Amino acid sequence: KRLILIGPPGSGKGTQSPIIKDDYCLCHLATGDMLRAAVSAKTPLGIKAKEAMDKGELVSDDLVVGIIDEAMKKPSCQKGFILDGFPRTVVQAEKLDEMLKKQGAKVDKVLNFAIDDAILEERITGRWIHPSSGRTYHTKFAPPKTPGVDDVTGEPLIQRKDDTAAVLRSRLEAFHKQTEPVIGYYSQKGIVANLQAEKPPKEVTVEVQKALSS
Ligand code: AP5
Ligand code: ZN
Repeated sequence: KRLILIGPPGSGKGTQSPIIKDDYCLCHLATGDMLRAAVSAKTPLGIKAKEAMDKGELVSDDLVVGIIDEAMKKPSCQKGFILDGFPRTVVQAEKLDEMLKKQGAKVDKVLNFAIDDAILEERITGRWIHPSSGRTYHTKFAPPKTPGVDDVTGEPLIQRKDDTAAVLRSRLEAFHKQTEPVIGYYSQKGIVANLQAEKPPKEVTVEVQKALSS
């Protein structure tokens, strides 16, 4: 399967991805995670991306399309993938269609994590992540066994630099202006499944499974 997850910051894309990935043996490509790794390694790509990310604005289409083009060539992605956080503009969606067309492939399903903006600040400001694995916690909704420590490795958890109430406002603005039209783009193709992403994580997983079995 070739899946796209679309939703505003904090809607649960990164939380559901590992579950879908294991259930369907797909590779998980999260442009935000890849960009953050590039920023912390201070690669040329990371240096270019950092300013926009810190402000909660989108990185240029060319940069992210390049990362995805490269990442989709990995052998583990040949059977299918989950795109988490890409495409985020209609231009990116068109480029993705072009890339897939060359392989005789297409997007099978778009999962739209529909949720009210008002819920997101609490989710974002309470989030803690384990950077190397991408595991995500929340002080209230998904606390680690020991505060500030990853359950699996015992390594420290960190908070994302863009997870403040102020930067969230710009990220939401970018979502409504630039990314919502992408949902329209795929609706026309009849492949969008709407999820009620304000439900608890396990219930969202059930919705995902239903959407993918139909
Ligand atoms: P990115 O990393 O993609 O961030 P985002 O889209 O803002 O999404 P988040 O990761 O914040 O949210 P999520 O939906 O994954 O939420 P999560 O599951 O963690 O992008 C970051 C930046 O990179 C962008 O701003 C941009 O600059 C750049 N960028 C990336 N891709 C780009 C692109 N294609 N083009 C241009 N620029 C790009 O959940 C959040 C919290 O809530 C967690 O603590 C979790 O435990 C909790 N939680 C999750 N689900 C539930 C639930 N059902 N109930 C209660 N709590 C829950
Ligand atoms: Zn995420």
